[in-house]
Amino acid sequence: MRILVCGGTGYIGSHTSVVLAQMGHEVRILDNLSNSSPVVVERIGLISGRRVEFIKGDIRDRHSLADGLAGGVDVVIHFAALKSVADSCARPLEYFDNNISGTINLLQAMTAAGVRHLVFSSSATVYGNAKQVPVTEESPLQVVNPYGRTKLVMEDLIRDYCVSHPEFGATLLRYFNPVGAHPSGQIGEGPIGTPGNLMPYLTLVAAGKRPFLQVFGNDYPTPDGTGVRDYIHVMDLAEAHVSALSYVSRNPGATPINLGTGRGYSVLELIQTFERICGVEVPYRIVERRAGDVAALWADATKAQELLGWRARFDLEKMCEDAWRWQVGNPDGYPT
Ligand code: NAD
Ligand code: UD1
Repeated sequence: MRILVCGGTGYIGSHTSVVLAQMGHEVRILDNLSNSSPVVVERIGLISGRRVEFIKGDIRDRHSLADGLAGGVDVVIHFAALKSVADSCARPLEYFDNNISGTINLLQAMTAAGVRHLVFSSSATVYGNAKQVPVTEESPLQVVNPYGRTKLVMEDLIRDYCVSHPEFGATLLRYFNPVGAHPSGQIGEGPIGTPGNLMPYLTLVAAGKRPFLQVFGNDYPTPDGTGVRDYIHVMDLAEAHVSALSYVSRNPGATPINLGTGRGYSVLELIQTFERICGVEVPYRIVERRAGDVAALWADATKAQELLGWRARFDLEKMCEDAWRWQVGNPDGYPT
């Protein structure tokens, strides 16, 4: 297939692009590099042994999208979004513009180009403070911050679009907590600025680049009091996109699908597993809860197995091992 990967130099997009290129698909990446490095394009080529095309451009720019969709594209995978919760609270308008306007623009460009298949990156954040875990795709949806609002609005836009274009197929992939890196250590999570998520911060502490990890609260109603999440290896997520490609090509309509392992681990369990597997100490301090955090969230991943024939293969040990290999090999992230 000819695939346009919007946001393909980012964390999840780069891993997915490697898998797609290795399978022989023609991959064209469109990214404005607002949260990624151009070096990623070379690394994808190096790992996959295949050339991927790169267009530096913004999904809010019609000309960039016209270039991206030129020559016939079978499917668009849409990773391009701003994703920090804290940042979205400080700059909501930028998030609405980038994520929501960008998605409207993308759907318009796809309409003009006659492209009928979309794989969209949603997030477990759409479940907000879920009352019951695990969450299924039918669990209530809730907005808890501006970033989450953009994901819910984008899901709704795509749903409405599918109603008005009955031949159009989209998967709304709700990722839980992606962690880890490609086993080669060549690509991984290389955000610009200080990471806010647990695993990339933990590996910085393990590498001695930060003095200690703050554990946000140990008084949650969980077995050890710390927050519980469904961590999923980024290579498992990449594989799920391959399955989603063939699903959207055969099934019109908008289909939400949880992508998680179906198992939750606490912050302390993650720290202990990391220390055991990587043989490095992770100094930590218990601090106040982080505003907006939920106690426990993990997926019911049955639907992904039923519809996509996909299930996560990698365990927490492998997630830690690969995240650490990436950190050790790339102590300052991608070269600038
Ligand atoms: P990322 O920031 O590493 O990748 C996103 C990429 O999109 C970046 O390379 C960025 O430069 C690009 N981009 C952003 N806005 C753009 C625009 N207007 N035009 C062109 N390119 C643009 O993030 P990621 O972790 O790879 O996440 C990918 C998607 O998955 C996002 O939509 C995110 O909201 C969603 N998601 C991520 C997580 C996570 O924990 N990483 C969890 C749930 C959902
Ligand atoms: C966060 C976002 C969520 C987003 C997801 C992926 C918030 C409130 N939620 O999810 O919307 O979809 O990232 O980008 O920001 N923790 C620590 N110390 C740290 C960092 C995290 O103890 O330095 C804890 C958190 O309290 C939580 C767990 O680790 O219990 C996971 O945190 P994180 O990696 O930030 O992911 P989420 O909060 O689940």
